[in-house]
Amino acid sequence: MPVHIRSEAPGRDPISLDRLRRTAETLLGLCGHRASELSILLVGDPGMRQLNHHYRHKDKPTNVLSFPMQEGEAIANGVLLGDIVISTDTASLEARELHVPLRQRLNWLLIHGLVHLLGHDHERSEAEAVIMAAREQTLQDQLHHHERKHAMTQLAINVDHVATLRQARGINEPDPVLAAGICELAGASGIVVHLREDRRHIQDRDLRLLRETIKTRLNLEMGATPEIIAIAVGLKPDMVTLVPEKRQELTTEGGLNVSGQKKRLAEVIRQLGQAGIPVSLFVDPEPRQIAAAAAIGATFVEIHTGRYCDAIGEQRQDEEFELVAQAAEQAFGLGLKVNAGHGLNYQNAGRVAALDAIGELSIGHSVMARAIFVGLDQAVREMLALVRS
Ligand code: PXP
Repeated sequence: MPVHIRSEAPGRDPISLDRLRRTAETLLGLCGHRASELSILLVGDPGMRQLNHHYRHKDKPTNVLSFPMQEGEAIANGVLLGDIVISTDTASLEARELHVPLRQRLNWLLIHGLVHLLGHDHERSEAEAVIMAAREQTLQDQLHHHERKHAMTQLAINVDHVATLRQARGINEPDPVLAAGICELAGASGIVVHLREDRRHIQDRDLRLLRETIKTRLNLEMGATPEIIAIAVGLKPDMVTLVPEKRQELTTEGGLNVSGQKKRLAEVIRQLGQAGIPVSLFVDPEPRQIAAAAAIGATFVEIHTGRYCDAIGEQRQDEEFELVAQAAEQAFGLGLKVNAGHGLNYQNAGRVAALDAIGELSIGHSVMARAIFVGLDQAVREMLALVRS
């Protein structure tokens, strides 16, 4: 195993060590060092301060330190390159200041540390600083390209409609918790439920049981009201998707007006972030909304595909698809993770899933409608096959 990773950092921000290790392995490959070894240690600011004091006589924390095992710039593949130490406290602070996701900041620090291990040093001279910055930028671009090429679009299933059927009779079946398990066994990578203020389908009991039983990812869709925010903070779903919610609507009708309520939504994102919950904003495919979502610190956007799905005629559908594609590109370029959903079915989902920037589709109605005839397991598997192909 060429990358050894360890964390001594306080677990304030959710950081996936496995993902960071995979990123480091990809970076080694991109640098021609697939067979070289590297150690990564994550620490908090107090630990980093001690190391910075001991090795560089600077009595303060820093973001990243590199300890090379090799000298010079022509280092052969297959050697022990050295250690990279990253302070997750400083990385989190910098991510917030730069309005980028923590993961993106960690990747940058990893690249910076690695380029040091490969013999570059921006402190040596101005010319060297320019060369090092160029190398970092190239690696960043290559990593970006690699991640897009290799990421497979995932499928999250919304099980609200199972609860709708149950509520129609006011009894205890069918159970959305059982449905969620079947979806996971069929290969869904996440379960979505919308806890509405009027509790028309999903109930508080469902949420509690789903939190206990879901093995993939629980995405809680919700309006940004104080009652539901408090429930989310207590429940700690794996992520929250904020949607506009109107009592009279049959289903979510449009995207959030993020640009028109930046301050309020930034505060909600902060509150949920403090509880360790990443936030997705459900937005129409409009540049203004995507830019606002990135500016206020959302981790994800979910692009509303309703207009694309409802468009009649090939030309109108192409036009709406183009807007979804451009919005996805814009969001990805701003460092957001990009999901999409609403109205997707077995005819139109594949085209959206094929967009490079899209990470996950959120689908409910069409899968449940098909499940009535072919069974839930098969309905999910068929959609998954479409999304992956
Ligand atoms: N995404 C969001 C934000 C939604 O509100 C919904 C509907 O609950 C969906 C996705 C799923 O839409 P559909 O049921 O049309 O697949």
